[in-house]
Amino acid sequence: MSDNKRPETMERITTPELANAFIDEEIAKLRAQIGEGKVLLALSGGVDSSVVAAMLIKAVGKQLTCIHVNHGLMRKGESEEVIRVFGEELGANLIYVDATDRFLDKLAGVSDPETKRKIIGGEFIRVFEEESKKLSGIAFLGQGTIYPDILESDGIKAHHNVGGLPEDVEFELVEPLKFLFKDEVRVVGKALGLPDTMVYRQPFPGPGLGVRCPGAITRDRLNALREADAILREEFEKAGLMGKVWQYFTVVPDFKSTGIKSGKRSFEWPCIIRAVNTKDAMTATIERVDWDVLERITDRITHEVDGINRVLYDLTPKPTGTIEYE
Ligand code: XMP
Repeated sequence: MSDNKRPETMERITTPELANAFIDEEIAKLRAQIGEGKVLLALSGGVDSSVVAAMLIKAVGKQLTCIHVNHGLMRKGESEEVIRVFGEELGANLIYVDATDRFLDKLAGVSDPETKRKIIGGEFIRVFEEESKKLSGIAFLGQGTIYPDILESDGIKAHHNVGGLPEDVEFELVEPLKFLFKDEVRVVGKALGLPDTMVYRQPFPGPGLGVRCPGAITRDRLNALREADAILREEFEKAGLMGKVWQYFTVVPDFKSTGIKSGKRSFEWPCIIRAVNTKDAMTATIERVDWDVLERITDRITHEVDGINRVLYDLTPKPTGTIEYE
C-alpha cells in the first residue's frame, strides 16, 4: 500500500533540528486529521507509545486521553514514572488502571508459556476496552506503530502477538511515527523533552516480567524478580552500560537450592542475569560484562533481595537460547 511506504524524499531524522521540523509538520497533520475529535491511547511507558503521547499532547492537548494499564508485571517504578511524566509534568488526561490483582489472579497456577501470554494479552485488551467504554465520543485511536512494524509484519511484535490492541473498526487510527525507525523515534522523543530513562529504554516485552518468572507466577517470586531487576538496572547504569547493552534483565526460575545466609542454612531461588546485544533480535550475542560489576551485582542481589541466595550469568547466545526465557 502506497500510504504505508516511507516517502523516498524523507530525510533521516538524526539531529534535534530535523526532529523539531518533523514534530512541527506532524503536529499540523495531526490537528488536520483530528480536528475537534477525541483520541484514545494505550500508554505503556515504552519508547513508542510515550513519544506518540507526547506528540498528541502537543497537538491536541486535552482531546487526548491516555490509559495506562498496570498489569502487575511492570518493572520497579515504571508505572510511577508514567504517572509523573504524563499525568503531572505534561498534564495529560491520564487514566491509571491498577489491574495487578486481576492479572495475577488469572495467572495463578498457569505454567504453560503460551497460555500465560494469551492470558496477559487477552486481559490487557479486555481492561482497555472496559475503560474505553466508560468514555464517550472517542473517534480516534493513537498507536505507536513504527516503520519496522510495517516492514516486518511477521516480525517480533507480530510473532509474539501480545501487548497490541485489537484492530478496532470503531476508531480511526492515528499513527504519527509509522515512517520512523527506532533511532529516529528516540531523537524525536528527546526533542519533545521526554526523560532519558524513557527515550533510551531497552526493549521490554508486552507480557513484562511474566516471561522472566518462568512457570506459574507467584507474588513472592515476582517481587524478588522485580527487586533483582531494579538492582541490575541501577548497577548497569552506574557502570555506563545503560544504552550500550541492548537488553539486560534478570530471571528468577522456579526452583530452590541450599545456601548460607547470616550463618544459617537458606533454601532459596537463584537469580539469572542475561545481557545481550543484537541488531534485529533474531540472533544475539552475550555482553562480556566486567567481572567487578558482576560481583557487585551478585553481592547486592543476594544481600538485598528476600528469597535469593545465588546469582548466575547466562552465557547462551541466540541461538540456541531465545532472549527471553518463555
Ligand atoms: P526472543 O525471546 O523471542 O525475543 O528472543 C526477541 C525480542 O522480542 C522481545 N519479546 C517480546 N516483545 N511481546 C513483545 O512486544 C512479547 O511477547 C515478546 N516476547 C519477546 C524480547 O524482549 C526481545 O527483545
